[in-house]
Amino acid sequence: MTGTAAEAEVVPLLELAGVRAGYGAIEVLHGVDLALRPGSLLALLGPNGGGKSTAMRVCAGLHPATGGELRFAGRKVNGISAQDAAKLGVCSIPEGRGVFPNLTVRENLWAATGTGARLADLEEKAYGRFPILGKRRDQLAGSMSGGEQQMLALSRALGTDPAVLLLDELSMGLAPMIVTRMYDTVAELVEEGLSVLVAEQFARAVLPIADTAALMLNGRVVATGAPAEIEGRMAGDYLGG
Ligand SMILES: Nc1ncnc2c1ncn2[C@@H]1O[C@H](COP(=O)(O)OP(=O)(O)OP(=O)(O)O)[C@@H](O)[C@H]1O
Ligand SMILES: [Mg+2]
Repeated sequence: MTGTAAEAEVVPLLELAGVRAGYGAIEVLHGVDLALRPGSLLALLGPNGGGKSTAMRVCAGLHPATGGELRFAGRKVNGISAQDAAKLGVCSIPEGRGVFPNLTVRENLWAATGTGARLADLEEKAYGRFPILGKRRDQLAGSMSGGEQQMLALSRALGTDPAVLLLDELSMGLAPMIVTRMYDTVAELVEEGLSVLVAEQFARAVLPIADTAALMLNGRVVATGAPAEIEGRMAGDYLGG
């Protein structure tokens, strides 16, 4: 690993600078700073209600910023629609997964072809990465285990060949062993060059594969740094272990 000066000069692929956002009259992000370097994994950690999901939605163009700047590759893109964010290569898996329970695995993949990907390619990639999905191709997604549904959600997201993947609470409702397995896959994707922003309450699951971690409390990022450093700053009950 090299780094330091050269690393600091890299233009972040995705960046929030002093971002404010809220719901109606209530502001919940009070000036959030986050920078996702290309080909890295940034873990956004912190307790319930801190604003992680809201920040992720701002990044995906799903929620407006009322202040500050949202930047993509150094360019200000405030007000971008989710569709245009997707065209820039930003893809998100929302909290609670993103699969259609009443569609089969295959139909779920087909529904991800809207962006121009071919079903055959999506299936090949999905079943190659997760052979169990191939066995379940004609099964309704809603009847599969949480882990299998998350594999499908990930496969759908990757079908669009994103540059940036936003993952919100990948671990939710999954057994620890499955969580580890899913994050191993995410680590492989980062190795292949994908840039990933992960929001997690279950910090222990993601810290080992993160390049950088940010701690979010009450609508502010209060610390950003090396995973070990941030882990040290977190109170035991935020570790989710
Ligand atoms: N749709 C909404 N309408 C009104 N308030 C909301 C809405 N969604 C979230 N909030 C509020 O915004 C604040 C931040 O919530 P957010 O979901 O972004 O936090 P989080 O860090 O993702 O929490 P969790 O760890 O529970 O997922 C909370 O106070 C929450 O109650
Ligand atoms: Mg959340």
